[in-house]
This record gives sequence, C-alpha cells and structure tokens, in this order.
Amino acid sequence: MNKQIILLPGDGIGKEIIESAKLVLNSVASEYGHRFTFHQHAIGGDAIDQYGTPLPEDTIKACQNADAILLGAVGGKKWDSLPGYMRPEKGLLGIRKTLGLFANLRPVKGFSSLLHASPLKEDVIKGSDILIIRELTGGLYFGQPSERRENGNAVVDTLYYHRSEMERIIDKAFQSARLRNKRLTSVDKANVLESSRMWREIVEEKSKDYPDVAVEHLLVDAAAMKLITQPNHFDVIVTENLFGDILSDEASVLTGSLGMLPSASIRSDGVGLYEPVHGSAPDIAGKGIANPLGMILSAALMLRHSFQMEEEAAEIEEAVNETLEQGYYTADLHIKGGKQIGTKEMTEMVLENLTTKSVSDSICSS
Ligand code: NAD
Ligand code: IPM
Ligand code: MN
Repeated sequence: MNKQIILLPGDGIGKEIIESAKLVLNSVASEYGHRFTFHQHAIGGDAIDQYGTPLPEDTIKACQNADAILLGAVGGKKWDSLPGYMRPEKGLLGIRKTLGLFANLRPVKGFSSLLHASPLKEDVIKGSDILIIRELTGGLYFGQPSERRENGNAVVDTLYYHRSEMERIIDKAFQSARLRNKRLTSVDKANVLESSRMWREIVEEKSKDYPDVAVEHLLVDAAAMKLITQPNHFDVIVTENLFGDILSDEASVLTGSLGMLPSASIRSDGVGLYEPVHGSAPDIAGKGIANPLGMILSAALMLRHSFQMEEEAAEIEEAVNETLEQGYYTADLHIKGGKQIGTKEMTEMVLENLTTKSVSDSICSS
C-alpha cells in the first residue's frame, strides 16, 4: 500500500523522537512491501521561528491531503511569553480543530517488564488495561470569549459544548467499549457544572442504544483517585477535553512513564493525527535521552486506525515489548538488572527486534 504521511516534529524532544517513528515505519514498510512517503512540515515554536505563525497554511494544506499525520510535540520556554493566539500550543489545537479530530484515544496498557517501574504497587497496577477517550475539539480549550477584562484584573474562559459534539464522542466511546470489555465509565463534574449535567443526560440516552455495555458515572475528583488506587476497575473512560488531558497524564503513572503513552486523534472517516501524550520535555531536550516508545507506539496506532494494518501494528508493539523484556530502558524508566540507553539506541533495539521477527518468519515459512 502506498501512503502519504505528514511528519510534524515540532519542538524539543519532538524533533528527536519523530525520527524513531520514521525508522520503525520504514522497517515495517520494507517487510510488508508498503510504500510510506514522508513529508515534513513545521508546527509550533519551530513554525513561529520560521514563518511567524504556529500553524502555517502550507502545513494545514499538507495535512488535509495526507493519509495520516504523525506529530512529535510542541512548546518550550522560548515561546512562553507570547500572547495566547501565537503560542506553539495554538498550532496543535488549530490542526486538531481544522481537521475535525474530535476523538482522542489514549490507551493505557502497561508492559509487564515495567510493572516495578511505576511508583504504584505492582499488585495494584497488574493487569490494568484502560482506554481513555478524550473529547478533543470542544470545551474550555475552544470556547469564546477567552480574554482578560477590567484592565487585566478579571478573566474569562468559556466552556461551550453543542449537544452534537457530546453525542459523537459518547457514541464513539460506547462503540469502543463494545469492542473491549463492555464497561464504560463516564467522567464529569455533574455536581457543579451544567455542561456535565447535559453530558450525563446524553450518556443516559445513548446507553439505551448499547444495552450490552455497562455504564457508570464518576465525578472527576473521585475518578482521579480511583484511577491510581483501583486501575483494574476501568475498561473505557470517556470524558470532556480538559478532564481527559489531566487524567491521561495521571494514568501514565500506571505504565511507568509519561514517555510510554501513545495517542490517536481521529474523526469518523479514519483520518488521524498520531501523537504521544507527553510534551516537548524542555528539561531533557537535546540530551538524546528522551523515551521514543510513546512516539513509536503512536505510529503503531496510525497503522491500526488509519491504514487497517493490524498485523503490522501488533508487530511494532511486540518489538517494543521484547526490547523492554531484554532489559533496555531510557532514563525516565528503570528495569532491575537492565541497561539504560538513549533515544537512538532504544530505537535501534526496537528495529533489531522487528528485523529478527521478520527474518524468523521468513525462515519458518520457507
Ligand atoms: P512534558 O510532557 O513535556 O514533560 C513532563 C515531564 O515528563 C518532564 O519531566 C519530561 O522530561 C518528562 N517526559 C515527557 N516525555 C518524555 C519522554 N518521551 N521521555 C522521557 N521523559 C519525558 O510536560 P511539560 O513539561 O509540562 O510541558 C513542556 C512543554 O510541552 C509545554 O510547552 C507544553 O505546552 C508542551 N506540551 C505539548 C504537548 C504536545 O505537543 N502534545 C503535550 C503536553 C505538553
Ligand atoms: C496534550 C497537550 C495539549 C493539550 C497542549 C499542548 C495544548 O497537553 O496533547 O495532552 O492540552 O491538549
Ligand atoms: Mn496533555
């Protein structure tokens, strides 16, 4: 299959880890006879420096014509004092909104060799396998007005959702739960927010269309607690934009590191932008020590969701698993008796495990 893939490295470690995803995809392409053509474009601080805007027209056009998009991360100190509309993050929000990528799938499934890399107790996190579905193009992130008032002494951000925006993400969550363990937890703040009360009503309405899925409602504060005390309680979690942002970073602790989490930002027709959950990590950028696995696993999600290449996606996930089983880890993790390595070496180990697998397959089939 011939696919056009847009690479948006962005800033900080984004630039370092995108290369890892590209190498892994090239390896899969040569094994399976696919052709992936990569086109690199600017976004975030990188685009501000080059073009004076965090989301150049050229980047938007390229993404609109692409089969899929891979994004590293945006942001950094250098651009932190710019006004809101000019910040690197505005580029990321802009591309999600322009492409209508309303569903952000954030699978949180730990690898068994990393069980003791989490500060949480092994017997608490063992077996946890959660899919967080975060609404991505509405809520506080996009509501207008969002401004300072009264000479800068007051401020307003707007939490706006149209019913249709809630319905489509809640539908997506029920459908996803159906394909998993048929348990859906809807997270809101219905004891305080009107938006959450409407959200809860819609979940109740929709649940009639999915009688095979068991639904529960949890308030976000209690959900934050339960996520790390009883992670095995959860199957699919669906929530609005800001709650989903916060809960997913929290959930990454189950896997040992924020650097492990991939995500898929998709819409109904399968077009998607694939991005690790973490940011540009300015504290470690340029040191060659960033964990590339969240990015590599995002590339696997791209193969699965946008290209229906399940076998190829699973093979990448298995190569990551094997690399960790062999004891290799980056500085954000720790594996007892293992070996700490950098971004490039970690990528090489994953590539080696991919190649070993394809060589042993061809020996078996010959
Ligand atoms: P961050 O996710 O960049 O970093 C949080 C912590 O996790 C840091 O200590 C960092 O070193 C560590 N970390 C993150 N990813 C890692 C990896 N792959 N390997 C090893 N360690 C890793 O969050 P932050 O520091 O709050 O934000 C930094 C910048 O990133 C901000 O400008 C923020 O807006 C931006 N950001 C961007 C995205 C994105 O582009 N998708 C996501 C989150 C934050
Ligand atoms: C994420 C990030 C972004 C978000 C920021 C950088 C705009 O934190 O992808 O989780 O809040 O959506
Ligand atoms: Mn986030």
